[in-house]
Amino acid sequence: MDESSAEKRPQFGNRFLENADEVFKHNAWDNVQWDEEQENLAKEKVKLNSQVNFSEGDIKSLEDEADKHWDAFYDIHQNRFFKDRHWLFTEFPELAPDNTSAPVRVFNESDEKQSENKPQNEPKPTDGNTKRQIFEIGCGVGNTIFPILQYSRDSNLFIYGCDFSSKAIEIMKQNELYDTNRCEVFVLDATEQKWNVPFEENSLDIIVLIFVLSAIDPSKMPTVINNIKKYLKPGGLVVFRDYGLYDLAQLRFKKGRCISDNFYARGDNTRVYFFTQEEIRSLFKNEGFLEEQNLIDRRLQVNRGKMLTMYRVWIQAKYRKPL
Ligand SMILES: C[S@@+](CC[C@H](N)C(=O)[O-])C[C@H]1O[C@@H](n2cnc3c(N)ncnc32)[C@H](O)[C@@H]1O
Repeated sequence: MDESSAEKRPQFGNRFLENADEVFKHNAWDNVQWDEEQENLAKEKVKLNSQVNFSEGDIKSLEDEADKHWDAFYDIHQNRFFKDRHWLFTEFPELAPDNTSAPVRVFNESDEKQSENKPQNEPKPTDGNTKRQIFEIGCGVGNTIFPILQYSRDSNLFIYGCDFSSKAIEIMKQNELYDTNRCEVFVLDATEQKWNVPFEENSLDIIVLIFVLSAIDPSKMPTVINNIKKYLKPGGLVVFRDYGLYDLAQLRFKKGRCISDNFYARGDNTRVYFFTQEEIRSLFKNEGFLEEQNLIDRRLQVNRGKMLTMYRVWIQAKYRKPL
């Protein structure tokens, strides 16, 4: 992207709430600061909903039947859920480098350690004819893969996707945008020790983890990261976005849904974990990844009709496999 096109592109992430009286003037505010009182209130709510009432048998069954619960979810919702992807190319321009229409992200100063590891570890630019391979884990019904296929014109790009819900994969394959010349999706439980996948070790340019690690039992997360490392090529990148500690979704849980610290079962028995930045850092650093980004995205969403405020917390990160 040249500088002139960057200038023309709208900026994203820079609507700051400076005067609390103006909160209902817009639908959302970026980088909202939490004061001590708000942090303590959230802590208190989590303490209240963290009592574990599930039996060991219940917890085992939630794990053993996890794919079935997601099948049931997709049976009901088909491809009507998880639609909102306006942030995809703003946050992860790497996914479609030839798409220059997405707004440019504005970063906090504190997030600006950003490119610490970049220059020496990013693979050298290729001649334009080299194959680029992206793999999305927990791709669901294609809400990330289809936008990439639509927005990227790169004929050398091939996208793989997996999900352990066979129902999700079936729905995805029926979509008219599913193009077997440009993508392939398959059923895989990413927590398995040995992955059965249609690509070689050390072959992938980018692995995408968007709202999937949170659905996995925390004790199995290191196995997933270990396999990610195996299949990424040296210099390959992981892009990650998921729920952060004290996100609205966590505070809304009622008593009796907690499985273990910050890990809950929803009403439909699909599970969700809420991460700290440090936990994500340890997971990747323990496997030798280099951190290029690890930020907390706090957004205040406003329902102006109902005069409601909703505090969202997401963790966003990028980790590179050393060359
Ligand atoms: C919250 S959804 C997100 C789906 C998709 N990434 C998106 O953002 O639209 C979580 C997805 O992860 C999948 N999933 C959960 N655990 C998995 C596992 N162990 N292996 C593969 N996929 C898994 C679920 O079936 C579901 O499609």
